[in-house]
Amino acid sequence: MFEPFTNTAGICNLSDTQFADIAQIHAQSFDKNWSASNIKQMFLTKNGKTTAYIGSIVKKDAQIVGFIIWQTMFDEAEIITVTIAKQYRHKGIAKQLLEYELKHLKQNGVVKFFLEVSEYNINAIAFYKSLNFTKTSIRKKYYKIGAGKTADAHVYSL
Ligand SMILES: CC(C)(COP(=O)(O)OP(=O)(O)OC[C@H]1O[C@@H](n2cnc3c(N)ncnc32)[C@H](O)[C@@H]1OP(=O)(O)O)[C@@H](O)C(=O)NCCC(=O)NCCS
Repeated sequence: MFEPFTNTAGICNLSDTQFADIAQIHAQSFDKNWSASNIKQMFLTKNGKTTAYIGSIVKKDAQIVGFIIWQTMFDEAEIITVTIAKQYRHKGIAKQLLEYELKHLKQNGVVKFFLEVSEYNINAIAFYKSLNFTKTSIRKKYYKIGAGKTADAHVYSL
C-alpha cells in the first residue's frame, strides 16, 4: 500500500505519469497548483547531488491515491505536503501513512518532525493533532490567499 519513491541515496524512481498523478491529487486540495514538472524538479539531482526531498506514494489497486513529501535536514524532517485523493479520505489512510513514515524516519535517525499549516486548514490541523503533533509557533501572515488577504502559518512539531 505504501511505497517510498526515493531510495536511501535520495534517488527518485517516479515516472512522468506518476508525477502527473501526484499533481492531479494535489490540485484537488490546494489553490496553488503544482504541475507535474514542478514536483519533478524537487526530486532532480542537481550537479550530481541528490535533493533533500523524499517521499512515498499510497497505492490502491495499482492506482496512486495519495502521497507525502518531506524535506530532511540532518536529524529533522519537515512535511512539505501530505494529500489523499478526495474519494479516499476518512478511511484512516493518511494516519497509517504518517505512522509508517515516522517509524521509517526514526529508524534512520530523525528525531524532530515539523510542518506548517494554514490557520484555516482545520481538517489538516485536526489530522496532525490526532497524531500528537503540537503547535509550537505561529508565523503571522505567512500565506497570501488572494485579494490582499493573508493567513497565518501554524507550526506543529512532534
Ligand atoms: C488532511 C488529510 C491528509 C487527512 O487524510 P485522511 O486519510 O482523510 O485522514 P485519516 O482518515 O487518516 O484521519 C485520521 C484522523 O485525522 C483527523 N481528521 C482527518 N480528517 C479530518 C477532518 N476532515 N475533520 C476532522 N478531523 C479529521 C481525525 O482525528 C481522524 O481520525 P478518526 O477518523 O478516527 O476521527 C486529507 O484531508 C487531505 O488530503 N486534505 C487536503 C490536503 C491537506 O490539507 N494536507 C495537509 C496540509 S499539507
